[in-house]
Amino acid sequence: MRVLHVGDVMGRPGRRLLKNSLPRLREEMALDIICVNVENSAHGFGITEPIYKELKTAGVDLMSSGNHIFDVKGSENFIGSLENLCRPANYPEGTPGKGWVSMEKNGERFTLVNLMGRVFMPLSDCPFRKFDELYPEIEDSFILVDFHAEATSEKCAFGNYADSRAGAVIGTHTHVQTNDDRLLPGGTLYLTDVGMTGSYEGIIGMNKKAPTERFLSGVPRKYEVEKHGKMVFNAMFFEYDETRTIKEFSKLAIITEV
Ligand code: FE2
Repeated sequence: MRVLHVGDVMGRPGRRLLKNSLPRLREEMALDIICVNVENSAHGFGITEPIYKELKTAGVDLMSSGNHIFDVKGSENFIGSLENLCRPANYPEGTPGKGWVSMEKNGERFTLVNLMGRVFMPLSDCPFRKFDELYPEIEDSFILVDFHAEATSEKCAFGNYADSRAGAVIGTHTHVQTNDDRLLPGGTLYLTDVGMTGSYEGIIGMNKKAPTERFLSGVPRKYEVEKHGKMVFNAMFFEYDETRTIKEFSKLAIITEV
């Protein structure tokens, strides 16, 4: 099975790049499953129902998210109805939505799990124990964990904790692709952060002005997604066989002029 996991899609420019890239990549790379982190797909903050449909039409199979998933006003009322989308599984009991999504492909089950770190992140339940709790329900599938977290140490610790149970642990949230993709001793594919899909010239996808002023003054500013300049498409590709053993993997960092 050949899988692509795409890093956080930033607003309209990120969605446009995704839509332009996916058909070609699906064909050229003979992809079976495409997963995308969509927590920043609506102007950089959250997702809407029309954007969910747009991404499905563009060829996205399963979607993960993170701490921004409820940023669109009223989204708690529809997140649970978005069939192929998961939000962090370690949100407290009763939070709308689901923590993992499964699909069948070529007679095999594939599951995308979303978990959120707790270091420099909003309050949530323990992602390590949450994974233990949900694992019996999904252990008959290949498991891809999108671990949405700030701290490298927490991501690395989780990767090793889930080694041999998860097929792959791929980090998101920092929007900067790391260079540590490798197979852990138990066979799990690990990458601290896959990066993002959006502006290459802004500050993690945002126009430089507001974040810079905020760092200089401490005063909150309204962030705008950067629409101009070079764009980057960040993703992680991997292939696994019928025994769920990873056969091949590589990072993608495609930089384009707009
Ligand atoms: Fe995030």
